Amino acid sequence: MNKTIALIPGDGIGPDVIAEAVNVLNAVGKKFGHSFEYKNVIAGGCAIDKFGEPLPKDQLDIALNADSALLGAVGGPKWDDVAPEIRPEKALLGLRGGMKVYANLRPALMFKQLKAACPLKDEVVGDGLDILIVRELTGGIYFGERGTSEDGKTAWDTEKYTWAEIERIVRLGFESAKNRRKILTVVDKANILNSSRLWRKVAETVHAEYPEVTLNFLYVDNAAMQLVRNPKQFDVIATSNMFGDILSDEASQITGSIGMLASASLGDGTGPGLYEPIHGSAPDIAGKDLANPLATILSAAMLLRYDFKLEEEAKAIETAVEKVLDDGWRTGDIAGDVEAVKAAGKLVGTKKMGELVVEYLNK
Ligand code: IPM
Ligand code: MG
Repeated sequence: MNKTIALIPGDGIGPDVIAEAVNVLNAVGKKFGHSFEYKNVIAGGCAIDKFGEPLPKDQLDIALNADSALLGAVGGPKWDDVAPEIRPEKALLGLRGGMKVYANLRPALMFKQLKAACPLKDEVVGDGLDILIVRELTGGIYFGERGTSEDGKTAWDTEKYTWAEIERIVRLGFESAKNRRKILTVVDKANILNSSRLWRKVAETVHAEYPEVTLNFLYVDNAAMQLVRNPKQFDVIATSNMFGDILSDEASQITGSIGMLASASLGDGTGPGLYEPIHGSAPDIAGKDLANPLATILSAAMLLRYDFKLEEEAKAIETAVEKVLDDGWRTGDIAGDVEAVKAAGKLVGTKKMGELVVEYLNK
């Protein structure tokens, strides 16, 4: 298979982790007989520096013309004072909107090897955590009508959803749950918001097509509480853009594996998806060979699975990562007892971690 992949390294540790994901993709290509060609996209703070805007159209076009896209991270304190319309985050929203990747899959997984880092009690976590958040990504309050009054004393943003926008998310939620533990929880604020009541109506309607899946509804405040009180009740969560933003950070934190989590943003399948680690740009450790590349490497696995339908290859990456962890290799963020890991000779940097995944892939 010959495919082009747009690489969007972005800022901070983005370029560090993308470089390792590329090494792993090349190793997979070699092993399974595929060739990947890469096209670089400059987006985020680095694009503000270079072009005066976070996502010039020709850069977005590079991503749109590729078969898939892999992003590192964007943003950093360097751009804290730029005008709101050109903030680095606008690159992310521009990519999501421009690529029409409306569904954001954020798996919150606890790696059993990293259980010690999970902040919840053993009896709450049991044998592990595996929650999939399906977040709506190109609508709602992030993209709704907004404004500020002339005197600057009133400002508003609008949460607006159409039936169609909700249906494609809820449907993906049911489809995902069908292949997992068969529970879909729709999270909303239906006791207050009209738009949430529409989410419920759509979910109930689509549920008729998925009788094997149990459908639950939870208000977002309760869901935030339940995630720490009893996270094992969740299988798949489907929710709006902003609730998904908030709950996915919470869900990732309770796994204790935040440096490990990947994500996929998918559209209707006619264009490229956008894959990225869920962690940020960590500018303080950028370029120092300290960042954990595993979340980006696992995002590359999701890319192979969803955009190229290369399940075996995706699994091979995931298995290699598991084995690297099984053998005790750790970057600083997942080391736990750093001194002990160091003494055992298993504390590694970004590059070595990437090399290890390649090595275990070829074993
Ligand atoms: C995320 C981030 C972004 C979001 C920001 C950086 C715009 O928090 O991907 O979750 O709010 O979607
Ligand atoms: Mg977020």
